[in-house]
Amino acid sequence: MKKIIVIPGDGIGKEVTDSAVKVLKKIDEKFQIGLEFEYRDAGGTAYDKFGEPLPAETLDACKKADAVLFGAVGGKKWDNIDVDKRPEKALFGLRKGLGLFANLRPVKVYDALIDGSPLKPELVGGSDLLIVRELVGGIYFGERCESEIYNGVERAWDTEIYSVPEIERIAKLAFESAKIRRGKLTSVDKANVLASSRLWRRVVIELAKNFPEVELNHLYVDNAAMQLALNPKQFDVIVTSNMFGDILSDEAAVIGGSIGLMPSASIGELTSFYEPIHGSAPDIAGKNIANSMGTILSAAMLLRYSLNAEEAAKNIESAVDKTLADGYRTADIYQDGFKKIGTDEATEIICDRI
Ligand code: IPM
Ligand code: MG
Repeated sequence: MKKIIVIPGDGIGKEVTDSAVKVLKKIDEKFQIGLEFEYRDAGGTAYDKFGEPLPAETLDACKKADAVLFGAVGGKKWDNIDVDKRPEKALFGLRKGLGLFANLRPVKVYDALIDGSPLKPELVGGSDLLIVRELVGGIYFGERCESEIYNGVERAWDTEIYSVPEIERIAKLAFESAKIRRGKLTSVDKANVLASSRLWRRVVIELAKNFPEVELNHLYVDNAAMQLALNPKQFDVIVTSNMFGDILSDEAAVIGGSIGLMPSASIGELTSFYEPIHGSAPDIAGKNIANSMGTILSAAMLLRYSLNAEEAAKNIESAVDKTLADGYRTADIYQDGFKKIGTDEATEIICDRI
């Protein structure tokens, strides 16, 4: 049996993971993978029940699992509690605790959605890129100070630290990803300003010697942000630090049409972790209107990377493709003339196409 820990989390997390689990069950009937699901709490929901956003038991269960499927955490309700108890803390605890060092965020443009893109169709059409974001280092995990008095004024600070092994580990995975894609890697940094970026660039250049078949270039993050909007087709794989990757991957989601469609995989030392890149959207929670395709496509990545079930992964991806091509749209991607569907209906329609 393959054990999958499901963490619905908060807000629409429950609906989107319910939907993805139904799709995985359908896939399991067809491919006989032997999937077994167990549920755990994290985020605000866990805080309400146990006083902790990430109960130790949740982390332990994840460590022993073949893979983790995650919904989303956060919500206004928990905005004013102590920083250490905030729902987002669960995500950081899972990332650090499971050693999830590489966050893969593929961006693909669906032909069926191209006309709904806020960007020009000829500009985004055919874009296919992968953002490889470092996930357990940098400014997210550096030493910080929430408040101190310095020279008579209050200030706060964060630190960005990267070590050579941390950069090598993420860059190696990015080179390997580029090698099996179109052979192009763009490393994004801010080496004109930051010391940590200058080390980043030096280490990436050194590692490139081991990957002569991959064409490497470097962009400063400000220019990368502009290039993503100007000409996304120039990119194959992008590798970058934790914070730059956070920012660029939201920008890149626009190229793909909707953040609701974007999956992600976080590759770890102990297990790997799969989640849509959208948040918990508390305003639409429980209304059966959330787009669960990002989570369903994350489940496809789970099959691909954790269970080595490529055929099953492709089956899910093509079922989503067909659903869109057949004119079905959830509210976030709805346009006049298409068939509007809710979360439950979308799940059924996708299952029917498996
Ligand atoms: C993401 C999210 C998180 C992050 C938030 C929820 C803390 O934006 O996964 O991209 O910044 O990493
Ligand atoms: Mg983000």
